Amino acid sequence: MLDLKKIRADFPLLSTEVYGKPLVYLDNGATAQKPRRVIDKVNELHTTLNANVHRGAHYLSERCTEEYEAARETVRAYIGAASRREVVFTAGATAAINNVAYSFGERYIGAGDNVVITEMEHHADIVPWQLVCGRRGAELRVVPFDDRGELLYERFGDLVDDRTRIVGVTQASNVLGTMPDLRRIIALAHSRDVPVLVDGCQGIVHGGVDVGALDCDFYAFSGHKLYGPTGIGVLYGKERWLDEMPPFMGGGDMVATVTFEKTTYAELPLKFEAGTANFIGAIGLAEAIRYLEGLDARDVAQHERLLLDYATERLQAIDGVRIYGAAPHKCSIVSFTAEGTHPLDVGMILDKQGIAVRTGTHCAEPVMVHYGLTAMCRASFALYNTADEVDALVAGLERALRMLR
Ligand code: ALA
Repeated sequence: MLDLKKIRADFPLLSTEVYGKPLVYLDNGATAQKPRRVIDKVNELHTTLNANVHRGAHYLSERCTEEYEAARETVRAYIGAASRREVVFTAGATAAINNVAYSFGERYIGAGDNVVITEMEHHADIVPWQLVCGRRGAELRVVPFDDRGELLYERFGDLVDDRTRIVGVTQASNVLGTMPDLRRIIALAHSRDVPVLVDGCQGIVHGGVDVGALDCDFYAFSGHKLYGPTGIGVLYGKERWLDEMPPFMGGGDMVATVTFEKTTYAELPLKFEAGTANFIGAIGLAEAIRYLEGLDARDVAQHERLLLDYATERLQAIDGVRIYGAAPHKCSIVSFTAEGTHPLDVGMILDKQGIAVRTGTHCAEPVMVHYGLTAMCRASFALYNTADEVDALVAGLERALRMLR
């Protein structure tokens, strides 16, 4: 079992108070708190090693470049990529998905083609595809989910056809918690020679990933949800695709030679890393990964499962509370509404009790529309949350409902 006392002590922000109450932080789906060693590492880099990477021939620049490339190797091994050439550092998952949508779209998507995504994607895996479809005259197709939050897998078979150029699907819905059967989706898409991008924003936090075993073509995630710094993310892409795709952004570091007549591009992965990289973020992310590697992944998964089951059971027992998402494979995300109240009011009263949940559309408006709603509350649990915090949420919610009803 996880030593929660010790783990919680690793995250300084967890011991903070808000409005004079101990913080109960249940908004990990939006961003997770950082362990001390990540904070210290970022601080240490700023105080002892800061210099631009891949540029200087001086000591600091060379050392910083080494650490940056070592961070790439840490990420490569963590996600199971075959080569560092397949690991691109980006500003976040949104930047990574936009990169694929733009570059892949430029090369492969044309008028009359289509892109298939799902109804449970968040905006970062919808809007980039809408943009590229608009530019290229392609159609955006959407695989629906049922009221339990389970994808209608048989619809993939109808929607993926010989004009489908790419499929985009989440590893875990940030609203419903659903973890779709990616192997099934990828096998179907590949049987029609269609590549698949997996949005790993939530999924990598709850169970990690092995992109090699999964055989996805692209994988995107953010550092800040994985206990790392903000402003850093990763795009994994099979070398075959990244090689053929044109760059997304132009600038320094992504070039081999530049003249006014013609520019040639750097080798992978730098072809996709224009401008000064967020090298401190990348090294900080590697530190977060090392922190996670120091924990037993099975213990983390079991703990999050217990939190999910306990929170579901207790919230469901409250009169008028409805939980959205009951798929058999679900991560520790619980979205809910309470009859006769507005989620924003509930969230505000919880906040005043020191309990941080997310309220609103969770950047996934189509999921709200599916249920005829404009907002939900969401409690998203991280490895450092406790059953006591579930109790605090339940007590806080009961209090909010007494006040609002
Ligand atoms: N997509 C992030 C969330 O789920 C911001 O909260």
